[in-house]
Amino acid sequence: MPLPVFDVVDGAADGEVTSARNRAAFDDVTWVHRAARAVGNPRLGTSILGESFALPVVLAPCGLVGSVRPAAEPAVFRAAARAGVPAVSSTCATASLERIAREGGAGDKWFQLYFLGGRKGAEALVDRAADAGYRTLVVTVDTPVSGHRERDSRHGVSLPVDFGIRNVARVAPHVIGRPGWLWRLARDRRSIEMGNLSQGDRTGLGSLFEEPPTWRDLDWIRRRWNGPLVVKGLMSADDARTAVECGADAVVVSNHGGRQLDGLPASLDALPAVVAAVGDHAEVYVDGGVRRGSDVAKALALGARAVLIGRAYLYGLAAAGEPGVDRVLEIFAEELRRTLVLLGCDGVDELGPGVFGNDVPVRSGRC
Ligand SMILES: Cc1cc2nc3c(=O)[nH]c(=O)nc-3n(C[C@H](O)[C@H](O)[C@H](O)COP(=O)(O)O)c2cc1C
Repeated sequence: MPLPVFDVVDGAADGEVTSARNRAAFDDVTWVHRAARAVGNPRLGTSILGESFALPVVLAPCGLVGSVRPAAEPAVFRAAARAGVPAVSSTCATASLERIAREGGAGDKWFQLYFLGGRKGAEALVDRAADAGYRTLVVTVDTPVSGHRERDSRHGVSLPVDFGIRNVARVAPHVIGRPGWLWRLARDRRSIEMGNLSQGDRTGLGSLFEEPPTWRDLDWIRRRWNGPLVVKGLMSADDARTAVECGADAVVVSNHGGRQLDGLPASLDALPAVVAAVGDHAEVYVDGGVRRGSDVAKALALGARAVLIGRAYLYGLAAAGEPGVDRVLEIFAEELRRTLVLLGCDGVDELGPGVFGNDVPVRSGRC
């Protein structure tokens, strides 16, 4: 990818402190070792919202993935289906939610809701997602404004995309060295549009931030959506309790990969308090900084039912397109399997506080 596109994916808000914390928190987890245990082929599968999946991994909603590769989202969904994991389509996806449903294979499809077009627009999106066959609705609640991604500002990257001469001149040196990316973009101009926007406003963010959701909106969303409801972007036990009171079946402990409020703690560090608060009533997932199968094991050991991954699959997509996402998911499975064997665990269900008697299976510098 050209550097400005890489930075859209890899970058985070302000000083990128929270983004770095997300990674460091996984690195700081220290396993308690248990040697000489016979483990065959450990069970990697788990149930998520009542369905069985091959891995405790969900592909996170990511906007404008088409800037990485054309027609990216259907490809990402097909790879998820092959690997037996759910994938979440973003309101800000390049491809429309209907196209992803049509071309994205037969896997478990979730839709992530932003209030594009205010509440009226959100109602329409919820109905479209139901009509298109999405099973689960994810409401992201940490984006009342966009975080300030300084790398994007430096490159002049913004929405709608600015094709002015000054901006093109600034980006051109990065793009010229990436002829493959440029060629693919030239063939498919839709790569930098938002497919869920109405015609006439296809490159703008429209009214995304005019009327962001509040807890009161969760009530009507719950009444309107018959399937499982997930609230994404919580970092505290209090907010998790409120989400569950509003009818959430699951919550995602997430700081948006450090892309929103810089200065938040690592999401992994926020996880145990949320699990303690709502873990008996709702499923708890975590995202932010998950890069390896062993990170998945760490998150599960600290109480998560599953993790969401964002950048990890986008890097695979950038490197090799659809087979690149396949490969990322294979690597996650291989690493998770090896970690479980090395830990002496027969399956992911054995990971978690209390499994090792009074010992917690992991010890974090912060816990
Ligand atoms: C390029 C990019 C676009 C994203 N777009 C969205 C989005 O449209 N909606 C959303 O809820 N989260 C979005 N996220 C956040 C992810 O869903 C997820 O919370 C985050 O990527 C997890 O951190 P990780 O990338 O370190 O795995 C985006 C993340 C990235 C990297």
